[in-house]
Amino acid sequence: MVAEIDLKAAINAVSDVVQNRPRPIREFDQIYMKTGDMVMQSELVSSWANGKRLAFIGDGDSISVCVAYLHAKNIVEYGPSLITVFDFDERIVGAINRFADRERLENLQAVLYNCIDALPSTKEFECFYTNPPWGASNNGSSVNLFVQRGIEAVRYQGDGMIVIADDEELEWPAEVLYQVQAFSSERGFYVSRMMPRLHAYHLDDAPDLKSCNLVIKSRPRNPAGPVSTSIHDSERLDNFYGRDAQLRVKYVREKKRVDYGRANESEYGFELVEGKGEE
Ligand SMILES: C[S@@+](CC[C@H](N)C(=O)[O-])C[C@H]1O[C@@H](n2cnc3c(N)ncnc32)[C@H](O)[C@@H]1O
Repeated sequence: MVAEIDLKAAINAVSDVVQNRPRPIREFDQIYMKTGDMVMQSELVSSWANGKRLAFIGDGDSISVCVAYLHAKNIVEYGPSLITVFDFDERIVGAINRFADRERLENLQAVLYNCIDALPSTKEFECFYTNPPWGASNNGSSVNLFVQRGIEAVRYQGDGMIVIADDEELEWPAEVLYQVQAFSSERGFYVSRMMPRLHAYHLDDAPDLKSCNLVIKSRPRNPAGPVSTSIHDSERLDNFYGRDAQLRVKYVREKKRVDYGRANESEYGFELVEGKGEE
């Protein structure tokens, strides 16, 4: 249940964030969560990570920005003490950092990072959030790479929120849920909460496919695992973004800085009123 917040102010704040988001690239599974669900999810994450250092492993949705912005504007009175986003898309990283700069969100930053690389060990986090590629064609292997980086970010002790597909009619989301729980359990994490079929997406070929929050927590005195290293095992990267879509792009580079809230000049042309043409 959403705590007592000014819903109109919250929706308007999330609307500012949505205006700032780069357009999604479908081939990398960038599929954005619907705005109503973003409002609810942001409040939930703010409360779950209250006072903690939170790492986002990928964040096209911009839940990180909503959480920081809602807190800074006092629309939500609680929230994480620090948020760092790790994402391989320079457009997303740039959009988050520019928004943080403009709105003076001093506890929010984004860094360019690909999950195949060792996680930079700059800070110690207490919790992580990820909405990864959903692993429909590789039994959740892509989800587990993001989860691995999240677990490394908290150094094997802390909490994680994993947002993945959840559908009662389809087999693959159930298999992925099983694989992710098994992967987490092998690393000393248990499922502390599961919130089924919670969020809807702008997903044209499966508009009814929902995601859940799979919330995990480290068992008491969980030993630290191996240090973060890069991935060379090509099997883990096959079908990463769907069938025959291997992970082969290191970074998405921003070609031209655009104002995402305004139409790009390449999208339209003017047909002038008669007699108003240039001499
Ligand atoms: C794959 S999308 C999942 C759908 C989610 N609703 C979204 O659009 O954010 C999540 C984020 O992961 C990022 N991402 C994809 N592949 C990545 C990789 N190899 N390393 C780091 N980030 C990656 C995308 O840029 C995106 O921001």
